[in-house]
Amino acid sequence: MEKLRVCFLGTGSMGSAVLEGLLASGHSKVLVSATTRSEASAKKFRDMGISAMATETVEEANQLMAGDADLIILGVKPYLISQVLEEIQGEIGKNAVIISMAGGITLETMAKGVPENPNLIRSMPNTPALVGMGVTAVAAASTASQAAIDAAMELFSKVGETILVEEKMINPLSAISGSGPGWVFYIIEQWEKIAIEQGFSQSDAKTLVRNTFWGSLELLKTSGEEPAELRRKVTSPKGTTERIIETFDGADLKGIFSAGLAAAVRRAEEIAKG
Ligand SMILES: NC(=O)c1ccc[n+]([C@@H]2O[C@H](COP(=O)([O-])OP(=O)(O)OC[C@H]3O[C@@H](n4cnc5c(N)ncnc54)[C@H](OP(=O)(O)O)[C@@H]3O)[C@@H](O)[C@H]2O)c1
Repeated sequence: MEKLRVCFLGTGSMGSAVLEGLLASGHSKVLVSATTRSEASAKKFRDMGISAMATETVEEANQLMAGDADLIILGVKPYLISQVLEEIQGEIGKNAVIISMAGGITLETMAKGVPENPNLIRSMPNTPALVGMGVTAVAAASTASQAAIDAAMELFSKVGETILVEEKMINPLSAISGSGPGWVFYIIEQWEKIAIEQGFSQSDAKTLVRNTFWGSLELLKTSGEEPAELRRKVTSPKGTTERIIETFDGADLKGIFSAGLAAAVRRAEEIAKG
């Protein structure tokens, strides 16, 4: 891995999180390159000592930068994946490992863009990667080599945990962990709102809710106990927590979560159809 030339095509929030994780792990800057749409974004990477080019100033930036790369990470928005693959097709090495981070773009669609490249990988990271605590799923084309899969797994391990899944699991996984930070932040938002409705100041509501969240997660991590067990410990029979859980169960909170997941999966399937 440390000798591989790594090129990021589209280096926005997700691409730069992975790029920075890679550099933080000691990967040599001279082996890393990046492209962006705007010159301003490209300059930011050049200021960091990374070779970077913008498509708004050099139209062929993607093919020029990816040409000699061993690992190519596609960090553009999903609607641009086919265009970028078309640009680099024929310009990159046959053994280059091509890793897409785009939601809804299948390995089959990728293969149509670069039919001569067997090492195709689809990934689904999440935004905690920005602080080195992401969860990334990796799915590989049946034509991909073990070395290609290992390289992709190692790359994302620089920004958190990585799991290998079959491609059919990517859509439900996108809803669970890809969109997961959305679930968590939404719950925190609602929780803080109801604390404020009870008369707490915004600042006190933040302290109460966020510290309850962080503290509970730390307890979960350090105790080694399962969430159900830890919950039982704060739920006295006929007590107040019991009433809260009964209310949630009565409203079928699990069913609501499940419906949210199903809606996200349907949307991912729509995106895949184009
Ligand atoms: N954010 C998430 O939670 C998340 C989670 C999982 C997967 N993803 C996937 O990750 C990918 C990137 O998402 P993001 O949130 O990082 O998006 P983003 O911040 O908007 O980054 C997109 C990057 O692509 C660049 N770009 C645009 N057109 C280009 C072109 N023709 N050639 C080369 N670069 C180009 C942009 O340049 P400028 O900087 O100049 O605009 C920017 O650097 C998406 O496919 C998304 O589905 C995102």
